[in-house]
Amino acid sequence: MSFDLILFGGTGDLAWRKIMPALFQAFRHGSLPSDGRIVGVARDDLTDEQYRALIKSRFDQVELAKRPSEEEFSRFAALLSFLRMDLANPADYASLAAKLQQRSADVVVMYVATAPTLFTTVCEQIAAAGLNGPQTRVVLEKPLGHDLASNRAINKTVRSVLTEQQIFRIDHYLGKPSVQNLFAMRFGNALFEPLWRREHIANIQITIAEELGVEKRGAFYDSTGALRDMVQNHALQLLCAIGMEPPINSHADAIRDEKLKVLRSLKAWTPETLSQHVVRGQYAAGTMAGEAVPAYRDEKGVNPDSRTETFVALRTEIANWRWAGVPFYIRTGKRMAAADAHIEVNFRPAPHAIFKVPLSSPNVGNRLVINLQPKDGLELHLLAQGADQRPGNGPGKSIPTLAPVQLDLDFDKRFGSGRVGAYERLLLDVIDGRLNLFVRSDEQEEAWRWVEPILDSWNSEPTRPRPYAAGTWGPSAASAMIARDNYCWSEEC
Ligand code: BG6
Repeated sequence: MSFDLILFGGTGDLAWRKIMPALFQAFRHGSLPSDGRIVGVARDDLTDEQYRALIKSRFDQVELAKRPSEEEFSRFAALLSFLRMDLANPADYASLAAKLQQRSADVVVMYVATAPTLFTTVCEQIAAAGLNGPQTRVVLEKPLGHDLASNRAINKTVRSVLTEQQIFRIDHYLGKPSVQNLFAMRFGNALFEPLWRREHIANIQITIAEELGVEKRGAFYDSTGALRDMVQNHALQLLCAIGMEPPINSHADAIRDEKLKVLRSLKAWTPETLSQHVVRGQYAAGTMAGEAVPAYRDEKGVNPDSRTETFVALRTEIANWRWAGVPFYIRTGKRMAAADAHIEVNFRPAPHAIFKVPLSSPNVGNRLVINLQPKDGLELHLLAQGADQRPGNGPGKSIPTLAPVQLDLDFDKRFGSGRVGAYERLLLDVIDGRLNLFVRSDEQEEAWRWVEPILDSWNSEPTRPRPYAAGTWGPSAASAMIARDNYCWSEEC
């Protein structure tokens, strides 16, 4: 099979950080179809050779195991070329058409890794140039819009020139091996399914904590914030994966239909829940790994008086028969105490106590932790009778106290850490035309519909996000929020 991959934003941050390294890994693993061309598109004035040299310099910065040898890079570089285009200029699409007409590839992937403001322009122009034929697949990066209205406007334009089958909306969390393992755990094993409901589960906590700050993306982030950057997409996709009904098969629409139902079932916000169940924070100066780091407002590109949130914690419910009344907590933030993404499923305690549980940590047992990163695996926390847990003699001493133990599955150890990364996996899926791990427009719109009242409430409030010191777990209000339900975040229990 032959493919042409046109990378709009070919010199941009995403191409640099994620897409090129992923394409190289696919090339190295022999999974990239051999008859391929990768065309970087940008406004820069570069020759093919200069573009190859630029991409080569990128690989000097990747970890050693993922770095190509000279020989490997020169074979990979043979796929690369560069096309100078001003994406707002319709005339420039003629040169793209000419490039594509040099041969007739089976698949043409247009990867729009640009500012979202250019998404509609690019799609309209490729259609105007007649480049939206059935062999074309368009990849759109998040964030797709800024709110529900802008998301709808983008989807409307894109769908007027392409079919839904041609549109690949990326949420790279869905490409992570750990997230695929979450689907495998739930739908490849019958073990958990009978327990996966309100009768047995007390609460579910989704944490995506980053140590990084806003890096070089201050200006972008300042107009985006954690709710749009992480919750509307990655965190809600995780919530769907945890909360959805088993799909009837593994086809893209069967999976997407079930995720959509979850999003539609999320409890609507009220003024009371907006004030009680949503906490936003912004990092202040602090210390990370012993080094002083600046406050968010002192980061480059950020408004010194910014009210943008770098942390969100919230509580919601999925209002359906399976989950009614079970709190789902989501928390994500930058500059937190550790880089750690995991989902914690807290089962209900034993209904009748014949053992004592450790007083210091009453919530330790009855817990499934799905580690997403940096570890990828499962931990099943149970209570057991340890060697030194014999009941004593005398009144009140005959009830043994149980000790916490855990079953620990490490998928990196089991399957090797050379597993296919998220972008590599998703790029190969686009080339092969597999939509399972991409987001449908109705899912995305529903997610925007749900986060929008939060954005509106923040816009109408005079209050600011709560400050938290960099290197901590966020504002104390996040702990207070979960404590009102008599639960605690994992690191606090
Ligand atoms: C991106 C966000 O979608 O996800 C970034 O825009 C964030 O702000 C990143 O850092 C986190 O991805 P990962 O794979 O590093 O957890």
